[in-house]
Amino acid sequence: MSSKHIVVIPGDGIGAEITAEALRVSQAAAKKCGYSFTHETKQAGGAAIDAYGVPLPEDTIDACRKADGVLLGAVGGPKWDHVAPELRAEKAILGLRKSLELYANLRPIKVFPALAAQSPLKPEIVNAVDILIVRELNGGIYYGARQEATIVNDVELAWDREGYSRPEIERILRLACRSAIGRKGKVTSVDKANVLATSRLWRKVANEMAAAFTQVEINHMYVDNCAMQLVLNPGSFDVLVTGNLFGDILSDEAAVLSGSIGLLPSASLGDGTGLYEPIHGSAPDIAGLGLANPLGTILSAAMMFRYSLGSEQIAAMIEAAVDQVLVDGYRTPDIYQQGLTKVSTEEMGQQVINRLK
Ligand code: NAI
Ligand code: MG
Repeated sequence: MSSKHIVVIPGDGIGAEITAEALRVSQAAAKKCGYSFTHETKQAGGAAIDAYGVPLPEDTIDACRKADGVLLGAVGGPKWDHVAPELRAEKAILGLRKSLELYANLRPIKVFPALAAQSPLKPEIVNAVDILIVRELNGGIYYGARQEATIVNDVELAWDREGYSRPEIERILRLACRSAIGRKGKVTSVDKANVLATSRLWRKVANEMAAAFTQVEINHMYVDNCAMQLVLNPGSFDVLVTGNLFGDILSDEAAVLSGSIGLLPSASLGDGTGLYEPIHGSAPDIAGLGLANPLGTILSAAMMFRYSLGSEQIAAMIEAAVDQVLVDGYRTPDIYQQGLTKVSTEEMGQQVINRLK
């Protein structure tokens, strides 16, 4: 019998409402499967600034390190926009990534058939979309040395350095290959190897990895071509793996395919505790009104069962229930269309629970 333990960090804005539904759905799904887990609630972001004066209290970090998984709502909001930069609520996310050494960001991009009409692309192009983007999260140009603007020989200049080591590339590619097993077994490694030295090392390591993972087919794509293919032929991707900078941009591009940011989950993984959160922010404009779409957070909880709590069965059960809720026409206001059933955050959670089987 499992005895897994999770930390729930509601955060700010709509965070409390959406994590409450994700937790309720998780508990109901676990119960159906004879699985039990415990949870505790911790603070981070603006809520922590108000209570403790810092965005990421030590107590929260400790609890996260000891837990099997962390479910996070979102942090930040206008109330904390004017605090000192090192105290900004968003620092909580960066701090957690660092403390938990989360080097991989996984973003599944799925277009639910029931919502295909809401995609900015034609339904026939997006219907088959089911992509897992695996972005390196702890290296590359975002973590390299940089020179702020300075005058050199009468010219103002600045630079940022991109570096990737073989171990950094190996671990992210290995994770991508493992993720492809059980999907379509196809990995597209995205780089700019015609220009960048880091990309050439990346490509070399990917080719070696291909030899080790015989069940997986790895192909290479230049990032500029990839940006086009995500729009022209998004159904052709399975797992897409890339570095930090390219991944930041491509994952946002791919996210719009689904037509709503309220629906998309994410996982950040390292060698220890994984962090799970929807891709959207704290939506202060709709906080506390029961208008928030909890499905992105509920699907993040499903990913937590898959990658951190050892239950593919519960993950699949939650995902199937979310599919069914959408097929049955339940919609929070962000995805509402005339003729369908408009529901609140809490009612949406309940409809998912009703469809767990
Ligand atoms: P946002 O994602 O919070 O909101 C953008 C728009 O989408 C808003 O109109 C909002 O109402 C809507 N929206 C977002 N999630 C929704 C949901 N689940 N259901 C229905 N509608 C939803 O982005 P924004 O406005 O740029 O940022 C707001 C705050 O969140 C800022 O303080 C920002 O720094 C923070 N933020 C936090 C993130 C995190 O915790 N990982 C990520 C992005 C932003
Ligand atoms: Mg981004």
